[in-house]
Amino acid sequence: MTSGVEKERTLEVEIERLLPGGVGLAHAEGLTLFVSLAAPGDVLRVEVDRVQGKIGFASIVEILKPSPVRLEPPCPYFGRCGGCDFQQLTYEAQLEAKVEIIRDCLHRIAKIETPPAVTIIPSSNQWRYRARANWQVDSVSKLLGYFERGSNRVCDVEYCAVLVPQLQETLEQVRKEIFAETTASPPRDIDAVVGDEGLSVAPPLGDIKTDIVSRRIGNETYHFSAKAFFQVNDDLLEPLIDKALGDAKGHTAVDLYCGVGLFTLPLARRFERVTGVEAHPVATQFARRNIESANRDHGSDLSGSENKVATSNLARVKIVTARVGDWLEEQSQSPRPVDFLLLDPPRTGCENKDITGILALRPAEISYVSCDPATLARDLKKIMAAGYSLDSIAAFDMFPQTHHVETVARLSVANS
Ligand SMILES: C[S@@+](CC[C@H](N)C(=O)[O-])C[C@H]1O[C@@H](n2cnc3c(N)ncnc32)[C@H](O)[C@@H]1O
Repeated sequence: MTSGVEKERTLEVEIERLLPGGVGLAHAEGLTLFVSLAAPGDVLRVEVDRVQGKIGFASIVEILKPSPVRLEPPCPYFGRCGGCDFQQLTYEAQLEAKVEIIRDCLHRIAKIETPPAVTIIPSSNQWRYRARANWQVDSVSKLLGYFERGSNRVCDVEYCAVLVPQLQETLEQVRKEIFAETTASPPRDIDAVVGDEGLSVAPPLGDIKTDIVSRRIGNETYHFSAKAFFQVNDDLLEPLIDKALGDAKGHTAVDLYCGVGLFTLPLARRFERVTGVEAHPVATQFARRNIESANRDHGSDLSGSENKVATSNLARVKIVTARVGDWLEEQSQSPRPVDFLLLDPPRTGCENKDITGILALRPAEISYVSCDPATLARDLKKIMAAGYSLDSIAAFDMFPQTHHVETVARLSVANS
């Protein structure tokens, strides 16, 4: 420990603002403090749990003067469960904090002097929005829920206020099945997802009926299961797709990290040739199936030339099961012009190899969909250094009650 502040000593601080990762920023006794579960403007007595150089990680001991945007967190597991870390904030303050976090990342990490205005679209449901979940199991202590904050101990959760009601019922069913004497060796974790129709649980459990689920978004129908990625909050998917695609159309589009084809299908309505790239084989199976059934449905309703064009585009969509970096490397052997490239990587963002490959393709337009503003900003810095300009940034509050936020950044080749 390099600071004079001893572990477990308490300090009085005022929270200046919220930072990426959702922690409150404060300064005291030469330390920059990151305070968990704080609200901007709170005056707090905090305990410093850990010090690294000039940075201290602290937790609240006492709220001396609550921020005007502080609420009593409604969930009984707040603070212990590692989930919803923004429940102490009014919804407006959550949205403001997310915009500030994105702007902070663009300025500090991407080094953009004056970032474009960030709009944020709120979720119509602030609770009961989550249609997909991953539950942890401790079979020795018979616990089912989420990891505790900063640990891999399981916080037993009987009721989760952000789950859609059907998924809450599933949590209760899973609890009954998983600790039943007939269940030989419970899995370490369980994935569950509900669609407009159907419930899917992986791995399958006892009497719980598990199906392929389907979800209608805009004019498209998607089939998937708990074994493949799908976005958690269906409320905002239509505006997310609209923003990510804008009025783009043309000859060739690429959808990197395409999952089950959330963006691939609408892209195929606008571009003559679309390629989706995804590493997970279960997801690519669903993506192909989703394209095929859209093609079939469209084919059975052929009226007007626009539909004919869209149908033949669907027939030409290619879904590749590969790691993005490997596929891009292969493309660089015989590069073809790309009009529009959409990428939606996991929270860790792109690997260096992925960025190099994207820049070698030199798409006219790039649409970057991200669930982590910090890795987005890191990657934007590299893309912009290669001659792209950032045209717009929009945020979508896909994860109310948490610090997480979905962002769409639209870029184009500068002076093209
Ligand atoms: C955030 S999800 C987006 C999926 C899809 N665009 C959607 O919105 O439903 C990221 C996807 O990237 C896939 N993935 C992760 N790393 C990858 C890699 N290196 N190459 C290809 N796909 C990858 C995951 O399996 C996951 O389906």
